[in-house]
Amino acid sequence: MDVTRVSENVYSIGVLNPNVRISDVIVPTECGTTYNSYLIKGEKNILIDVTHPRFFDEYIENVRSVVDPSKIDYVIMNHNEPDHSGSLEKLLEVAPQAQVLSSTAGCIYLRNILNKKDGYRAVKEGETLDIGGGKELRFMMAPFLHWPDTMFTYFAAEKMIFTCDFLGAHYCEPRMIDKYIDNLGQYEKCFKTYFSAIFGPFKPYVLKGLEKLNSVEADIVCPSHGPILTKGNQLERSKELIKEWSQPETHNKKYIPIFFCSAYGYTTHLAEKISEGIKSVIADADVEIMNVNEHPLDELAGKINNNDAFLLGSPTINKNAVPPIWNLLSTVDVINIKGRHASAFGSFGWSGEAVPMLLDQLKMMKLNVFESGYTVRFVPTKEDDQAAFDFGKRFAQQL
Ligand SMILES: Cc1cc2nc3c(=O)[nH]c(=O)nc-3n(C[C@H](O)[C@H](O)[C@H](O)COP(=O)(O)O)c2cc1C
Ligand SMILES: [Fe+2]
Ligand SMILES: [Fe+2]
Repeated sequence: MDVTRVSENVYSIGVLNPNVRISDVIVPTECGTTYNSYLIKGEKNILIDVTHPRFFDEYIENVRSVVDPSKIDYVIMNHNEPDHSGSLEKLLEVAPQAQVLSSTAGCIYLRNILNKKDGYRAVKEGETLDIGGGKELRFMMAPFLHWPDTMFTYFAAEKMIFTCDFLGAHYCEPRMIDKYIDNLGQYEKCFKTYFSAIFGPFKPYVLKGLEKLNSVEADIVCPSHGPILTKGNQLERSKELIKEWSQPETHNKKYIPIFFCSAYGYTTHLAEKISEGIKSVIADADVEIMNVNEHPLDELAGKINNNDAFLLGSPTINKNAVPPIWNLLSTVDVINIKGRHASAFGSFGWSGEAVPMLLDQLKMMKLNVFESGYTVRFVPTKEDDQAAFDFGKRFAQQL
């Protein structure tokens, strides 16, 4: 990356990765990404966030083009996921005098990321760091944006805040500032994808993070992926968008989606009977029966996370529940839906592992699991239909 001077003392010195198409195993990066890092040059030289381990050689050249690494006084780690901390070990080899600062949780993680016990200093909410020239940096804790360790670093003298993943995007253009973005439409698309993937599970924390951000005067937001956001360009709009995307959904009626897959229609049939049972108790409930194979995953992800209770239906195939149902479960925001009422059902042939496996998983995710689900061997009989109806009824009665 060409080094970009953001302000008199601040340089953007991160690395571009235009070709990556998937990050963190599951996050789409259609437009590549960048691993941003910032250098404040002055009486004290300070690095904020480092970079992905694969790009250290390029990164250290960027650092060297602004300052001799042996002259770095502090490395501030706002968040220690390895896309930011993965190069820290190598960096410290050429900057052994640098003191590493992070949140309390961040220092704990660093011990197991660098496999080195000491050498980190934990900073607290509101703590300041004197950087000389009458200037200081202030630390603001911002847990779960994206990990429990996350904090922001505020540079009042430059009206600038460093937010790591928060307000970032997996988007790669060589000029790192929003006013130079060539394809704004594409950027906004990537900003949304990134937000859903990284912050979808942490929406209440996003709203708190925004409040925190708005409590200081910050005209320039420096995230650690994608372009820097500036007042009068993308900053206001980006803040508005994530605020809108983080509002809790409200339903007038009880919303109870039933997600299922079915090879021959037997599990489908059970879904219908269970739904009738639910409606016999809550007449105006919005019970939506959805074949998981017929809807895009992001639509289903929204629905599995925003409901009053939900059910999963799967036949047993090869001693397992079917992959689309597992896939759907992987989108659950475990923090937000702790304690939600849920259960599972399905038709099976001989061994019937699907339902108990799903229930175990739901319990592991700390949901409130109802009974031991409902199962039927092969084709449901009239009695099974009644039992499925009754299962739906009992499920609804406890809501
Ligand atoms: C490829 C395949 C593998 C299966 N493996 C199992 C199994 O391991 N254990 C079991 O109990 N049933 C197994 N079954 C039987 C189905 O669970 C059973 O036919 C069920 O009634 C299908 O319900 P559905 O119409 O809702 O898909 C298998 C069926 C298929 C087609
Ligand atoms: Fe992260
Ligand atoms: Fe990140």
